[in-house]
Amino acid sequence: MARTFTRLPPALDRALPLLQPWAREQGRLVPEGYLDLIGAAGPESTGMAQDLMVTRIVPAVYERWWRPGLGRVAKGVLGPSMSEEHRIARLLLGLSPGDGVLDVACGTGNFTRDFARTVGPDGLVVGIDLSATMLARAVIDTREADLLGRAAFVRGDAAELPFQDSSFDGVCCFAALHLFADPMRALDRMTAVLTPGGRIAIFTSVQGRTAPLRTLISLTGGRSGMRIFEQDEVVGALEDRGYVEIQQRVAGVTQFVGGRLAG
Ligand SMILES: C[S@@+](CC[C@H](N)C(=O)[O-])C[C@H]1O[C@@H](n2cnc3c(N)ncnc32)[C@H](O)[C@@H]1O
Repeated sequence: MARTFTRLPPALDRALPLLQPWAREQGRLVPEGYLDLIGAAGPESTGMAQDLMVTRIVPAVYERWWRPGLGRVAKGVLGPSMSEEHRIARLLLGLSPGDGVLDVACGTGNFTRDFARTVGPDGLVVGIDLSATMLARAVIDTREADLLGRAAFVRGDAAELPFQDSSFDGVCCFAALHLFADPMRALDRMTAVLTPGGRIAIFTSVQGRTAPLRTLISLTGGRSGMRIFEQDEVVGALEDRGYVEIQQRVAGVTQFVGGRLAG
């Protein structure tokens, strides 16, 4: 059941020192239990896919039907299941107890909670997302999982990540980079908030290898507002930003990419 928050949930209180001063000043705790840095005027939508994420319907069916269903179509029948995706994220991030993790475009917090279990009570995971309705669901489910002591939620834009440099040991961005208006700017910010030696994990779109796949995604991609990355575009972007030990796994029209920030 939804609860009204009048005080910061414990993990959000612990996350405050990681915020940039402007965010500490402007952030507003909303009754749903997350810190809102956006208010009424959000950034312009990139298209239908992003619009759907701010409805009330998608958060209600997201983890059970929406994400596994669309993910299966995009990853292909032999692509990783949702539980394998969680395992891939944990492996790419190489998390240990006590780590700090940022989950960019966390949606309903499905991966955020998983990381919170891995980093344990001394760790801290912050999920950030643009959608108020996704975040409201994230807080409800995280409270039910008794994880609000180690998982906090912030409403903000991935292109303007409001955290101080070198704040996190791991940064995850699953199923979202292709929705951003400026994905390279978002990668810049993710890199800035990552501590040297920290790891990044990305799951996003990639151009299909076969002609039918390329045709299918050129038809759907344009209408939805989703960007389709070239095969080496995200890997190249990580190389340019100083990542090493870069790994890429392609499944259908999706890719998992991970790397360690040199330092
Ligand atoms: C498909 S969901 C991904 C949720 C989760 N990471 C997962 O893998 O299931 C995409 C999320 O990206 C968020 N999003 C889109 N554009 C964003 C932006 N510029 N900044 C932050 N979040 C954004 C949407 O609100 C939505 O919750």
